[in-house]
Amino acid sequence: MNSRKDTTNLRRRLLTWYAGNGRVFPWRTVPTDPYVVLVSEVMLQQTQAARIAERLPLFLAEFPSIRHLAAASNGTMIRAWKGLGYNSRALRLRDAAAMITEHYDGIVPASVQTLRTLPGIGPYASAAIACFAYGVRAVVLDVNVRRVYSRWMQRCERTTDVAALRDIEAFAADVIPTRNADTWHHAVMDLGATICTARAPLCRTCPLQRHCPSANAMAQATRERKAEPTFRGEPIRLWRGRIVKHLSDHDSRTLRQLFRDVTGTTATASDLAWLHTVVHKLRTDGLVSLDGDVVSLPG
Ligand code: ADE
Repeated sequence: MNSRKDTTNLRRRLLTWYAGNGRVFPWRTVPTDPYVVLVSEVMLQQTQAARIAERLPLFLAEFPSIRHLAAASNGTMIRAWKGLGYNSRALRLRDAAAMITEHYDGIVPASVQTLRTLPGIGPYASAAIACFAYGVRAVVLDVNVRRVYSRWMQRCERTTDVAALRDIEAFAADVIPTRNADTWHHAVMDLGATICTARAPLCRTCPLQRHCPSANAMAQATRERKAEPTFRGEPIRLWRGRIVKHLSDHDSRTLRQLFRDVTGTTATASDLAWLHTVVHKLRTDGLVSLDGDVVSLPG
């Protein structure tokens, strides 16, 4: 894209496509509720939108306001977060709610800089919350938006090609319209989720085909996965999730019982040492309590 006219045409085509094809989600209500946007954006950082669409109403029924959320104990949060992954995010969301209640009179801040100071709210979430809750023209960049912009900015020949972050930021600052930045970002996200996908983009049905230098140019690349620490061939991250889930379904467990319950096998001494390390880290993260060798969810 190189001229103002191209940008105007691209915007128009995308927004027209979105008007007819945008996805409907419970956090995209009009008028928007900043509390709902805060909760949904934290959830959406780790889990698919369709799943969050199912779970968000249950979560909001349990915590109907930011003050309810601010008052939740660790154990309550972990139970309410079950199946949503990365339990420590739940605790930081609660901490953010407590900070908003205490320092901002229970009103989610509208400034990106202020949002950024809240626990668990990083560069992506602070921009997304300001934009989706208050219409602030912030640059919202998650991995999907970065991919879509990269393909518009340059000719990508492999599906994994992405532009440098600084260049993407400059492009975004230019392409985001002055008005309705929230609708704009929803449209880019929906295009990224349904057409301009990571592995198999549907260029032939893309409304922006004529504006996109990468249209029909990309070969599918195989993605190399980063090695992550494992136990018995599975990431520790999954074991952590299983342990917390198991404890939220059951009462306290000794380390030995817990090992048997989550692995289906009897622990050796080295298995117990491994589990102890994992549980210790979970305790440091505030996700479990450990009393001697008895593990439970925190109260
Ligand atoms: N992923 C992150 N934020 C989102 C949103 N507001 N809508 C859809 N998917 C998202």
